[in-house]
Amino acid sequence: MKILNMQLFAGTALLSALLLTGCDLPPQETVQRGYRGTGMEAVYSPEVLQEVVAANQVPAAIPAVSSEGPKAGDIYKNVEALGHLSVGEFTRLMAAITQWVSPEQGCNYCHVAGEGFEQDTLYTKKVARVMILMTQNANENWGAHVGGAGVTCYTCHRGNNVPEQVWTIGVPPRHAEGHNHLMQNVAHQESSVYTSLSIDPFTPYLLEDGVARAQGGTALPTGHTESIRSTEHIYSLMMHYSDALGVNCTHCHNSRAFGSWEQSNSERVKAWHGQQMVKSMNNDYINPTNDWLPEYRQGPMGDAQKVNCATCHQGAYQPLLGANMLADYPNLGSLAPAPIDLIEEAADAIEGAVEKAVEAIEGGMESASLDQAESAGEAH
Ligand code: HEC
Ligand code: HEC
Ligand code: HEC
Ligand code: HEC
Repeated sequence: MKILNMQLFAGTALLSALLLTGCDLPPQETVQRGYRGTGMEAVYSPEVLQEVVAANQVPAAIPAVSSEGPKAGDIYKNVEALGHLSVGEFTRLMAAITQWVSPEQGCNYCHVAGEGFEQDTLYTKKVARVMILMTQNANENWGAHVGGAGVTCYTCHRGNNVPEQVWTIGVPPRHAEGHNHLMQNVAHQESSVYTSLSIDPFTPYLLEDGVARAQGGTALPTGHTESIRSTEHIYSLMMHYSDALGVNCTHCHNSRAFGSWEQSNSERVKAWHGQQMVKSMNNDYINPTNDWLPEYRQGPMGDAQKVNCATCHQGAYQPLLGANMLADYPNLGSLAPAPIDLIEEAADAIEGAVEKAVEAIEGGMESASLDQAESAGEAH
């Protein structure tokens, strides 16, 4: 009996040890972030934190060069995004881009050896041009989210041709006929952080204009329009937010009132701006590249690989733990100023259009007053 007990004990101990290896080992530390008693605490494991720090080291910057001298647009033949840079800055940025996106393949990942650099033969070059515009636009127009650290190609790519964490539109799993599956209750999917919530929380909120609101405005379920299904979509998205940033729900919310903006941390507002920025990246920049992409770069539904919170954050509350790489690459900080002659052309065109409109209105008024005079004459 005693021996049996001992064996049972040893077995249980072994099983618990096996189960524990799946968890973060103690000690866990907590930091109070909200009001006392609200439970708004950050819980973290120093061991995991060390791994995050190690994974978020920034490569050394290429020495800066002068912005003086001839412009790339004066020398090169096909530079739509970077023509306003000096030739030195342009070359430095090409070298940096190569380090960040195709360190193994080199310049030839986007340019064909033996052919002029101006040719747009490879799809990768065309995509890279869109990416340059997307990055410049994020830094210029989405300061409400990325202001501070800023974004470079490295924020997402980290030496990979395609960033490690991307998503494509979900495929409904196989299910029995007559039974509508709705993408729920599929265990062990990375996209829903291994919960059995929606396996594609991204399409409604990071591509379409879904607004993540689940809470009703009244105590009783009167006039409440959100379904359990849409609520589960929200929770799946929220699991992604937490997982992508390596934080608890309380990084953004006071969990006694998830919906209340007044009781939330300012990080939640920042996250909201992030959500709008990601939508714009996916719709305005990434989706339009889809026609150029080879099939192996598309998802099972034939769409381009897209951005979510993890594409930049990769498990850190701020990408690269807040390191500002943009300071070393200010050329990615804003879009090219519109060329002067284009502005003048546009101004001329507007002036011409205004003149025509005025003429048309005056002509219209004349014929209208003639009509009036005529009808007035008839009435008499
Ligand atoms: C990840 C893709 C990518 C890599 C890698 C890359 N380039 Fe480029 N390159 C581009 C894009 C995009 C443009 C066009 C930029 C624009 O439209 O302003 C360009 C344009 C150029 C041009 C201007 C050609 C012309 O006349 O229009 C030169 C020169 C050039 N690259 C040199 C290089 C060199 C040298 C390397 C390697 C150190 C390199 N590039 C690596 C994407 C890349
Ligand atoms: C916000 C994240 C993000 C940033 C910032 C970003 N990229 Fe991308 N990049 C992506 C995603 C997502 C894809 C896959 C979608 C696609 O191919 O259109 C991609 C694809 C690419 C590809 C195609 C690679 C292949 O093998 O198919 C190139 C080239 C590229 N990016 C270059 C760049 C350059 C250069 C920069 C900086 C100017 C940059 N990217 C900045 C997210 C990003
Ligand atoms: C990085 C910040 C952030 C984190 C972390 C986060 N949320 Fe949210 N949450 C938001 C934002 C922003 C919205 C509103 C989104 C919108 O308006 O489309 C929201 C909305 C919600 C809503 C809907 C509220 C309503 O008005 O009905 C619920 C419920 C919710 N979150 C629960 C959670 C849970 C549970 C977690 C942890 C698993 C979590 N959130 C983690 C930022 C966050
Ligand atoms: C293009 C890259 C990029 C993407 C995509 C992105 N973020 Fe961020 N995020 C940043 C940068 C950069 C910062 C740091 C800004 C600063 O220095 O204040 C940041 C900061 C934040 C912060 C503030 C964290 C803190 O504690 O200071 C929150 C919250 C956040 N992001 C949430 C999100 C959510 C949620 C998503 C997805 C909807 C998202 N981010 C997508 C780049 C990104």
